[in-house]
Amino acid sequence: MSTLFPPLTQARIQGMAAYQALCDEAERDYAGYWARLGREYISWKQPFTKSLDDSQAPFFKWFEDGLLNVSYNCLDRHVEAGRGDRTAIIFETDDGQVRNTSYSQLLALTCRLANALKAKGVKKGDRVVIYMPMSVEGVAAMQACARIGATHSVVFGGFSAQSLRDRIQDAGAVALITADEQLRGGKALPLKAIVDDALADGACPTLKDVIVYKRTGGAINWTAHRDHWLHELTEQQPETCEPEWVDAEHPLFLLYTSGSTGKPKGVQHSSGGYLLHAALTTSWTFDLQDSDVFWCTADIGWVTGHSYIAYGPLALGGTELVFEGVPTYPDAGRFWQMIQKHKVTVFYTAPTAIRSLIKAAETTPAVHPKNYDLSSLRILGSVGEPINPAAWLWYYENVGGSRCPIMDTWWQTETGGHMITPLPGVTPQLPGSCTLPFPGIQAAIVDETGHDVPNGQGGILVVKKPWPSMIRTIWGDPERYKKSYFPEELKGYYLAGDGASRAADTGYFTITGRIDDVLNVSGHRMGTMEIESALVSHTELVAEAAVVGRPDDLTGEAICAFVVLKRSRPTGDEAKAIANELRNWVAKEIGPIAKPKEIRFGDNLPKTRSGKIMRRLLRSLAKGEAVTQDTSTLENPAILDQLAKAN
Ligand code: WT7
Repeated sequence: MSTLFPPLTQARIQGMAAYQALCDEAERDYAGYWARLGREYISWKQPFTKSLDDSQAPFFKWFEDGLLNVSYNCLDRHVEAGRGDRTAIIFETDDGQVRNTSYSQLLALTCRLANALKAKGVKKGDRVVIYMPMSVEGVAAMQACARIGATHSVVFGGFSAQSLRDRIQDAGAVALITADEQLRGGKALPLKAIVDDALADGACPTLKDVIVYKRTGGAINWTAHRDHWLHELTEQQPETCEPEWVDAEHPLFLLYTSGSTGKPKGVQHSSGGYLLHAALTTSWTFDLQDSDVFWCTADIGWVTGHSYIAYGPLALGGTELVFEGVPTYPDAGRFWQMIQKHKVTVFYTAPTAIRSLIKAAETTPAVHPKNYDLSSLRILGSVGEPINPAAWLWYYENVGGSRCPIMDTWWQTETGGHMITPLPGVTPQLPGSCTLPFPGIQAAIVDETGHDVPNGQGGILVVKKPWPSMIRTIWGDPERYKKSYFPEELKGYYLAGDGASRAADTGYFTITGRIDDVLNVSGHRMGTMEIESALVSHTELVAEAAVVGRPDDLTGEAICAFVVLKRSRPTGDEAKAIANELRNWVAKEIGPIAKPKEIRFGDNLPKTRSGKIMRRLLRSLAKGEAVTQDTSTLENPAILDQLAKAN
């Protein structure tokens, strides 16, 4: 048995017996357990009488006849309780300026924005796309949509015009909130200009209004009647706005994420069940207390930024740090310097960030965390991809001072919040393992026929029962929802898309990675098909492309593309130049995060006689492994030698 690292001796959920009691309660009365928590964590305008409705499985409903407003729960109720002067958000800009926003101020800003949206005709149920930098205004924009019952869809500021356009069109958005530019790493990067591109040539006919937050004051183009300055719209508006009371199933947001096939899918989340789990997990996994300063380093463009920046901490009335910039500017000590400056107590980041900061500290000793006072920290978190034990240990010792437990939280865009994770006062931690299910979550490992796999063996990670914050559907495509997440062979279990195993002794879960054609690069999720489509859309150059992932020390996985050109196979400098052109093409089509790390050119791709590309062979080639798989069905075995080498 490997060394386990101890939990805290004092936390809200304290001790394994307390954990077990919660699991038992859920076991005895599943719907009742969630109903109890739904009443404790959420203020309802009208209480629900039903907990889980599974009559239309796999389209589940939770707390359906309850009425609530998410922004009321995140803002008003704290102000009403006399906590309006508490700091909600400590915002630090890219260049190190700090601005505190109290709950009363965040409520006022949210109401003004909500009123401005209403004045532009945005109604309950309308979709609003948010394409914003990390900012108080970005969080307020999400809260403002929630306030009027509009469904937001945040698009990460690193996505291209084409990706933004696809999402606006798919969501049928009526309005978009953006900024002139964003500041990252000392550079001003365009946002409004990308919006202009996305909307060009009447590509998005449903979209009527663009609201622009002035962040840098940089030069931008302006389309009269369509574009409005956020400050001009909001300054005319009152600071109060009656919340729109919605039923618990009302869609709070859509968030687009990659699947194994087709275009990114709009994961639809509810209001009540989602908010419950965002709040509950922030409370139990991070033990958030009034004295804490919580910092989640994610971007609001990802689900982590939704649940653990925009909603969870605010629903609890907590104080959180929101950061505009990047971990490496002005140097790679930025995170540590900010933890020291703001006395951060709970810190939640991604393995990729940790690995890159380890590397930086090795080459530049001045940015090593030991140079900073990190004694305020009490709990650490990790999310987005498996954390390798070496990075875990470095994080534990050098950032947490061997005193802070690490919450390795496994979850997904679709799950809304933590699913498998240690709890700080409960779980002895094992580096590289996300340990045990959150109380009430029925995570399990099964084989292809949905039968339980004994501990000690690997299999398919599923969730056996619906839970409140689960995905409700894929926007506009309920069939795809059913097929992707509830395949018939799995007996109605939710299919996560990850492989996992459980330890024979502890029952701890270890995630082994995706079992579908989804890649995880620096914690960013991408479909191989999307990148392939982007490559072949370069119709002048590319005849065919296949994309696979390969393990990478820094980014977890790296994208490797095998490309057949319409012209003869290039070599040497020419191959380099074309590879570069294609990498930039992919950045333009999807976003810089989707750039292949390596592109190899071939006269052909390894195919079966029926013409199917054999991706498993390409995976071996990308890793630099000898191909040991059966190649007897291969139409053109000679191609393997050609593709085995970098250009
Ligand atoms: C995929 C979901 C979770 C929010 C951010 C990413 C991988 C996530 C872990 C973890 C191992 C993890 C899985 C999952 N993943 N957290 N702690 N250990 N793998 O959300 O973009 O929807 O990606 O990220 O493969 O399926 P996402």
